[in-house]
Amino acid sequence: MALVSSVSLSFVTQFKTKPLIVCAPGRINFIGEHVDYNEGFVLPAAIDREMVFAIGKSGHDRCNVYSHDLEEGVSFSIHDLNSGETWVNYLMGVLDGFERRGLPVHGVDCVFGGNIPLGAGLSSSAALCCGFAFAVNQLFKCKLSKLELAKIAQYAEHEFAGLQCGIMDQYASLFGVKGAALLLDCRALTHEVVPVDLKEHSILLIDTKVKHSLAATAYNDRREACEEGVRILHKKNPSVNSLRDVSTTVLYENQDALGDEVFIRCLFVVEEMKRTQLGAGMLRKNDVKAFGELMYQTHWGLSQSYEVSCAELDFLVSLAEEDKKWIVGSRMMGGGFGGCTLNIIDNSYVKVFQEKVLHQYLATFKKEPDFYLVNLADGVRIGS
Ligand code: GLA
Repeated sequence: MALVSSVSLSFVTQFKTKPLIVCAPGRINFIGEHVDYNEGFVLPAAIDREMVFAIGKSGHDRCNVYSHDLEEGVSFSIHDLNSGETWVNYLMGVLDGFERRGLPVHGVDCVFGGNIPLGAGLSSSAALCCGFAFAVNQLFKCKLSKLELAKIAQYAEHEFAGLQCGIMDQYASLFGVKGAALLLDCRALTHEVVPVDLKEHSILLIDTKVKHSLAATAYNDRREACEEGVRILHKKNPSVNSLRDVSTTVLYENQDALGDEVFIRCLFVVEEMKRTQLGAGMLRKNDVKAFGELMYQTHWGLSQSYEVSCAELDFLVSLAEEDKKWIVGSRMMGGGFGGCTLNIIDNSYVKVFQEKVLHQYLATFKKEPDFYLVNLADGVRIGS
C-alpha cells in the first residue's frame, strides 16, 4: 500500500491529474526451467513483489515517464521508439508492439516504482513490460487479451532488450493466481491452476547478488543449441517440431548426429519436461517432500548438463542439501548465471538457515546474500 501511495503521490505532484493505478507482480518458477522456449510445460507463480504504475494519457504524442526508484525521468515521442540502453527500452518495446498491431496508442504520463529486486531472476523486466502493456491497453481501450499482452511484453524483450526469452515470465505476471502455481503449456499457451499448499514450509529466495553481464548471450546460445537439435531431428522425422515432440530414447538414438553439446542440452530439457509433469502431480497431492527432491535434480541438471549455474548458486544449493531434513527442495531459478535460489524450507528452520548461509556465503564470496520470503499472488491488476 505504501508503494502505491508514494508512486501515486509522485504522479499527482508531477502531472496534476488522477492516475490509473496498475500493479504487476514478479514471478518464481517451481520447476520447468529452460523449457518454455522448447514448448514444454512450466510451473511458475506470481509473487507478492510488484511493480506499481501510475499512468494517464498525456494528450499528445509525447511520453513522460519517471522511475520512482531511480529518481530519473525520460521524455520521448511515440513516433521515435529507438532502442536506447536503459529501462526506457522495455517501455518503448511495449509501445512498438501496440503500434505494430495497428492499435491507436498515443503518449502517456507515467510514474512507476517497485519492490522486485532487479537482476535477481524474479522477472522485474517482465513485470515492467506486462504492467505497462496492461495499463496502455486500458487507457486506449485496445481490448487486447492477457495473452496478447504477454506476447507484446515478450516482443519487447526480444526486439528491444535482445533476450530471446520464452513466454513463462510474462504469462505468470499476467495470469498469476493467489496461493497457486500455473501449469502452463507453452505450446498451447493455456494453463491449469495448481493450488499450492506447502504445509509447514515457506518459500525462501536467496539472492546471490551475482549479475552476469553475458547472461543474455549465454541464454540465447542455449536456445540456439536446442533449436539446432530440433533441426537435426526434424530432418530425420518431420513430425518433430520442438523438443516437446522428442523422447530421451530418440535423443540417445541420435546422439552421434546431434554431437556432444547439443545432445547434452537437449537431454536436460527433455528430462526437465518430464520432471515438471511429475512435479505438478506431486504438488496437487501436497507431497512437498517428493516435489523438493525433483527441485534438487533440476538444479544439478541445470548446473552440470545445461551449464547455466555459477559457483555461488551451487554453493547455496549444497548448503541446503546438507540440511535436507528442513530444506526439502532447493535450486537455482530462472535463466541462470546468478540471481536467486528457490528454497522450500520448514518454517522452524528459516532463521537458523539464514544465519548459516549469511556466515558461510560471506566467508566464501566476500559479499552478503539477500533473503526474501515470498507468497504466491494474483497477476497484473488495477490498483486503488
Ligand atoms: C528466463 C526467461 C524465461 C525462461 C527462463 C528459464 O527467465 O525469461 O522465458 O526461459 O529464463 O526457464
